[in-house]
Amino acid sequence: MDLGFLALAFGLLFIGGCSARVVTVSPGPLIRVEGQPVSIRCDVNDYEGPSEQDFEWEMSRDAKGPKIKMVSTFDSSFSDPSLSKRVASGDISVVRLQDNEAELKIAEVKSQDSGFYLCRTTSTDSVISGNYEAQVQLKVIPKTLKVSPQTPPPVVLEGNDLTLSCNVTQELNYPTYLSVTWLVKRGTTSEEILTFGPQGDVVTGSKFTRRYLDGGLRLVPGRNGLFELVISRVTTSDQGTYECNGTEWTHESGGKWTKIVESTKEMGTVTVTPTGHFLNVKASSSSSSSPSVLLSPGNMLTLFCYVFADNLPVLSLEMTWLADGREIITMDHSGLVISNTSSNGAQAKRGQATLERTGGGEYRLGVRGVSGEDGGIYTCRVRAFIEKGGRSTGGGGRWHLAAEKMSNPVTVKVSETSKYHIFTAVNDMGKEMMSTSTPMDVF
Ligand SMILES: *[C@@H]1O[C@H](CO)[C@@H](O)[C@H](O)[C@H]1NC(C)=O
Ligand SMILES: *[C@@H]1O[C@H](CO)[C@@H](O)[C@H](O)[C@H]1NC(C)=O
Ligand SMILES: *[C@@H]1O[C@H](CO)[C@@H](O)[C@H](O)[C@H]1NC(C)=O
Repeated sequence: MDLGFLALAFGLLFIGGCSARVVTVSPGPLIRVEGQPVSIRCDVNDYEGPSEQDFEWEMSRDAKGPKIKMVSTFDSSFSDPSLSKRVASGDISVVRLQDNEAELKIAEVKSQDSGFYLCRTTSTDSVISGNYEAQVQLKVIPKTLKVSPQTPPPVVLEGNDLTLSCNVTQELNYPTYLSVTWLVKRGTTSEEILTFGPQGDVVTGSKFTRRYLDGGLRLVPGRNGLFELVISRVTTSDQGTYECNGTEWTHESGGKWTKIVESTKEMGTVTVTPTGHFLNVKASSSSSSSPSVLLSPGNMLTLFCYVFADNLPVLSLEMTWLADGREIITMDHSGLVISNTSSNGAQAKRGQATLERTGGGEYRLGVRGVSGEDGGIYTCRVRAFIEKGGRSTGGGGRWHLAAEKMSNPVTVKVSETSKYHIFTAVNDMGKEMMSTSTPMDVF
């Protein structure tokens, strides 16, 4: 053998040592759902010659079956006649992504497209070296993904919970995975609330992260495909049209998650009734619903404040009694009572006020030893708070002022008539007796 030729051959191998052509497609097998788009990318590296490379795609139904020519980047008459219609309509196409990368696209894959896809590059190398083609298997599966939401209640009272149930299933004949996403649509934009899956993981929409961490969003993956999302303590900002999105995924070699089909269904529109629409506050005296009370100096004044609300259990109430617009005493939403004792002399002459909760939504004001100073127009004011949760803030819950209401007025008169004064002085605590023997509650 000619030594010179050998040397040349080795020399070429060394110079072109890095130019052993490599053609790659995804490792596969690729699982795709009938009717969905498919894209298979192919690239080539370590080649010689022009930077722009040409690609052709062929497929065979079986691994060793006959090859059907599909599309090519340089030969428009390449396609097999059986595919020419689909190529002409654009259903099957090839797109050059870069000089060394092209993509086979099928707009709506059919079950008979299952098979082995071969990407081939034509040689531009001075010496044939490396691989010129690569193959991947495509499995087209039927669409079995079903998304069937349950219609949520159309109206929810502020502060109550809203449960969004959605049934998402697929047939388990194929190694695919599911995820469920809840969305809320206000106007034309849908906002993601939370996604569960496909690996059992939870991802929250940016506006819902804090709420999820606070425990205000609860996921209940049930059985038989039922997934529930509970939104706790809804506010009017939760109004909107809810949607449920089921997505089927495949996990390809190389750890890549690919979405293969999705279905989004509208669940229903939910309106949140604000607390202010149904919160009612009534003030009345102990013995009657009369709008006025007549007392004698030294008597005990007792007034009740009743709070009515359909969502009372979720409300935390701050209750304040006012006399002629002055705050007398407040029970804050944690139950702490604060008397508003100012330092001026007028206040010192006033009776001693107490405030108690006597039942759900029922509060009693007591003023012992009233004097003329205690007369006036009494009203109770209620502020209804709803807890926003606060696990992420370390227990110090956040509160939302949902509504504020004033009661009807009750007029309190303290008559200076001396006979009542003497009478009450004698009886001291005998208010029951007095209410029958004197006209104090009615005038
Ligand atoms: C969810 O849907 C599937 C299929 O449509 C059905 O078999 C299953 O019983 C449903 N599950 C529930 C909890 O309704
Ligand atoms: C459905 O959910 C998937 C996965 O989270 C997401 O990629 C897709 O955009 C969603 N579709 C719609 C219509 O919201
Ligand atoms: C006491 O009453 C005044 C007047 O109504 C009010 O401005 C003030 O905030 C009250 N103070 C307390 C501690 O309630």
